[in-house]
Amino acid sequence: MTTDRYRPQFHFTPLRNWMNDPNGLVYFDDEYHLFYQYNPYDTVWGHMHWGHAVSPDLVHWHHLPIALHEEMDTGITMFSGSAVVDWQNMSGFGNPGHPPIIAIYTGDHRPAPLEDIHIAYSTDHGKSFIKYADNPVIDVGNPKFGDPKVFWHKRTAKWIMVNILGHEQGCVVLYSSTDFRNWTYLSRFEAPDVAPAIWECPDLFPLAVDSDPGDVRWVLKINNTDPAGQQTWYFVGDFDGTTFASESTAEEAVGRDYGEIYAEMTYNGIPAADGRRILIGWVRQKPSEDRAWTGAQSIPRVLTLRTGDRGLVVCQTPVGEMERLRQEHHHWESVTLPEMSPESAPRLIGGEMEIKAEFEAGDARDIGLRLQMSAGGWARIGYSATDGRLFVDQENGKRVDAPYSLTGRVLKVHVFIDHNLIEVFAGDGETVITTSLAPDPLCETVEVYTEGGTAQLIALDAWRLASALESTQ
Ligand code: FRU
Repeated sequence: MTTDRYRPQFHFTPLRNWMNDPNGLVYFDDEYHLFYQYNPYDTVWGHMHWGHAVSPDLVHWHHLPIALHEEMDTGITMFSGSAVVDWQNMSGFGNPGHPPIIAIYTGDHRPAPLEDIHIAYSTDHGKSFIKYADNPVIDVGNPKFGDPKVFWHKRTAKWIMVNILGHEQGCVVLYSSTDFRNWTYLSRFEAPDVAPAIWECPDLFPLAVDSDPGDVRWVLKINNTDPAGQQTWYFVGDFDGTTFASESTAEEAVGRDYGEIYAEMTYNGIPAADGRRILIGWVRQKPSEDRAWTGAQSIPRVLTLRTGDRGLVVCQTPVGEMERLRQEHHHWESVTLPEMSPESAPRLIGGEMEIKAEFEAGDARDIGLRLQMSAGGWARIGYSATDGRLFVDQENGKRVDAPYSLTGRVLKVHVFIDHNLIEVFAGDGETVITTSLAPDPLCETVEVYTEGGTAQLIALDAWRLASALESTQ
């Protein structure tokens, strides 16, 4: 018997069955589209389709019917890809004044080990898609070739496609087109100094350094299936319309979200007046008999590029729209830890919360937040001065951590708790941990804690968050 007891209230989850990568993130006519890798038959991976949801604000999502179905006759399933609005109808798939949405995706052939690039278009705002009759539009005869991210490159007036190629030493290959049907090979990007591994889900986009519009870099994001743990890497460099050249080495390019997040993708079509680079990632989960679904999408985040102590850092912060869910507010300041009376000790009750906390680390060995879980166990979101790491750990021994150096002995964290899903943004978002507490306990109370010394809670703001679920859920 499965129940909805463990359903996160403000993370997107499928109503039932398996979900992995976000696909086709595109904003069009006041709607944020979220397509996703979806198995409509089971809570485990398989039979990839593109599921679909839309949102007016990146917070409240409305479930829609499946957008792309697997092909029973050809044995092709719908792997990851992207979507764009073809404003000038360069594809000819739209009608005057009515641009089409074009989905560009990986066709995965079974049983043949082959992947190629397919396109499909929608002339009804993404409600339904028609697959192009002459698919595939690119076939290089490789079993691992795809996850196309397509975007409009203004200076060369071309559509650019960034793909992954290769099973052993993954690399990125770039193509361009002016009609979506014909693609010209441009270049390839490799990182020879990294251990051979499959790369997946590339993305390429410009970001201004420290918000200076006169100093723009291009960021190449890839996922790496390193056996040591699936990761996300960001390479910072330049893209001249043909070639991406990285300024950073693979060592410096290690992802800044150290948790169970993967296959992140940024939105196409965000209006210039908004100008944000918005990213969503898949929060990996194992199937559980207690849930009717598997997998969640992260809180949408804004990416920025900042100058840190060791060079440029891709930072992630939750989109401001999340504030729409804020309910009762609690505030504490200037509390010495651990010397608190029960009355002065910050204590929050509930399973859906946003917390912004600032600690002066003092001589404490450990500081942070302690969560009491419904099943009786505990979890902690903390900073360990002993080894300089930010961490989320649990009574059952599960620990996710990240190297982190405090600025002036001050720890600043922005935390979202959604039943058992935890997102921690430290500092200005230069280090992030997204994780799920296992096996599906629910958070009941949160307190601050310190161990091995004293510390000062400079300030703590907390809000109970409203549910963002549709009333049918
Ligand atoms: C990443 C990935 C992609 C692929 C899809 C299949 O999680 O393996 O490379 O297109 O998932 O579901």
